[in-house]
Amino acid sequence: MRRKLVVANWKMHGSRAENAPLVEAILAAPSHAGVDCVLCPPFVYLQEVGRQLRDAAVKLGAQNVCAEAPGAQTGEIAASMLRDVGCEYVIVGHSERRHLYGEDDVLVARKVAAAQSRRLTPILCVGEQLAEREAGETEEVLARQLDAVLALSGAGAFEHAVVAYEPVWAIGTGRTASPAQAQQAHAFIRRRLASRDAKIASGLRILYGGSVKAGNARELFTQEDVDGGLIGGASLQAEEFLSILAAARG
Ligand code: 13P
Repeated sequence: MRRKLVVANWKMHGSRAENAPLVEAILAAPSHAGVDCVLCPPFVYLQEVGRQLRDAAVKLGAQNVCAEAPGAQTGEIAASMLRDVGCEYVIVGHSERRHLYGEDDVLVARKVAAAQSRRLTPILCVGEQLAEREAGETEEVLARQLDAVLALSGAGAFEHAVVAYEPVWAIGTGRTASPAQAQQAHAFIRRRLASRDAKIASGLRILYGGSVKAGNARELFTQEDVDGGLIGGASLQAEEFLSILAAARG
């Protein structure tokens, strides 16, 4: 049985004044027993949010990481630095990184390896764009994105990793994948990995992301291969996010 995981991706939102009460409300909610929760604020707020999370079951994650070791990389943040400020997770290859900042599959695979070299758990995002879905290429895109990691690091990379299926057309659009569409993509991801290592595939947590709300979370999370969610907009509102956590608890 895979334990459910709910990850808040705040994206480039928040401020010191807004973050503190949001984190406080999440920590004050009834126990998160039975479900794992990770908060991913922007880099500059990691330490302060991390201080609030100290000793709590809720974990800290970053939204991106540099593929390189510390050095002359102006504006970048190394995996060792994320670890140093208390991160346990890092989102890698989010569609906004892939499509707005030109990160390709090989770079994303290198970021997964960089994260794991510092014992950070990567949350590897994969997902097709609308035109790709309409052209019937969803599985081809998912396979290509997964295979880049398999080629660089092997199936073992997925033993301590999380995958997030985020169809690009569902992100921030209010248009959610149907539970059946999500299940189909998640099952494909698991099968693809199972062809390399069935045991690792069966233990892998695959999150769904893309317009998850309190109102649709429960149905998504009851799909066999949906092991939780990667939540954008709805993670910025305490009540909405807590309802999503409750839905994951079942
Ligand atoms: P929304 O939940 O705002 O659609 O964002 C999803 C996402 O990209 C999370 O990483």
